[in-house]
Amino acid sequence: MYTQKLRPRRMRISPAVRDMVRETSLSAKDFIYPLFIVPGEHVREEIPSMPGVYHLSVDEALKTAREAWELGVPALEIFGLPEYKDADGSSAWDMTSPVQRAIMAIKKALPDMVIVGDVCLCQYTSHGHCGHLEGHYVDNDKTLKLLQKVAVSQAEAGADIVAPSDMMDGRVAAIRDALDDHDFINVSIMSYAVKYASGYYGPFRDAADSAPQFGDRKQYQMDPGNAREALKEVELDLAEGADIIMVKPALAYLDIVHEVRQRINRPVATYNVSGEYAMVKAAAQNGWIDEKRIVMETLLSMKRAGSDMIITYHALDAARWLQEGNCF
Ligand code: PBG
Ligand code: ZN
Repeated sequence: MYTQKLRPRRMRISPAVRDMVRETSLSAKDFIYPLFIVPGEHVREEIPSMPGVYHLSVDEALKTAREAWELGVPALEIFGLPEYKDADGSSAWDMTSPVQRAIMAIKKALPDMVIVGDVCLCQYTSHGHCGHLEGHYVDNDKTLKLLQKVAVSQAEAGADIVAPSDMMDGRVAAIRDALDDHDFINVSIMSYAVKYASGYYGPFRDAADSAPQFGDRKQYQMDPGNAREALKEVELDLAEGADIIMVKPALAYLDIVHEVRQRINRPVATYNVSGEYAMVKAAAQNGWIDEKRIVMETLLSMKRAGSDMIITYHALDAARWLQEGNCF
């Protein structure tokens, strides 16, 4: 009789054995939780296309920050809806804007929490583009000067990391220069180095009121067909001084995450974006999928592909599920 000597099933025999041999693990420490800060007080309004995610005033954001910290989530990324918009998005570097006030308040209450400021202009410009317009064209180098102001204002507020998401050429070098000139030598830059022009940002643009009023972002964000170009973007940003390299979105671009992980020796982040979140939530609310299983499997795939950290709206739920155990 033929006897089977090699039996991979032996290592799947029980939950304990499976735990012992699992190659990839998830932890609350892997997560960065995004917050949307709005003007006012006592505001906690659910975002319709992102169930479980809220517009928060600074006082409410503090509560959520504490909750995240207690669940073991070490970092927050701060987005904001300003009180006013103008052509150059000047509320993005106004120290009294919701983002700057939230950074100050959270840093004061939770000094060890890592605060990431999203550096872009689209939430703050009246036209919704990520930079300074000349006619209908986003002027790269004029935008750099504005981004420098945003980054410095967030560092002044207490951000540990600034994360430029605008996709202008040369922004990492420009921001590094500005931070260093202001003595923020230890403020890091997490570059959205590989950010594709993606339909997956839809719910975020509703939530952040940042959709472009005309055209699209295809002249600055990357073409979804390109992988080699992604590596060029990464190379440039590392040379300019990026400390962390981000790939975004996550799910449809896990090949890129993997490739970047293979090639560089700096930390890699992935952004599990709003559209990915919304699809899971919608299917779960219909009872079509098991939310916990799908979320944990999805986040695990991002770790397995090579992300050291994951920016995700599922962070608090996932951290809770990890505490409960039995996730896989
Ligand atoms: C702003 C920005 C966007 C996201 C993060 N920063 C949207 C965009 O580029 O239009 C998307 C995040 C998400 O979809 O969750 N530049
Ligand atoms: Zn933008």
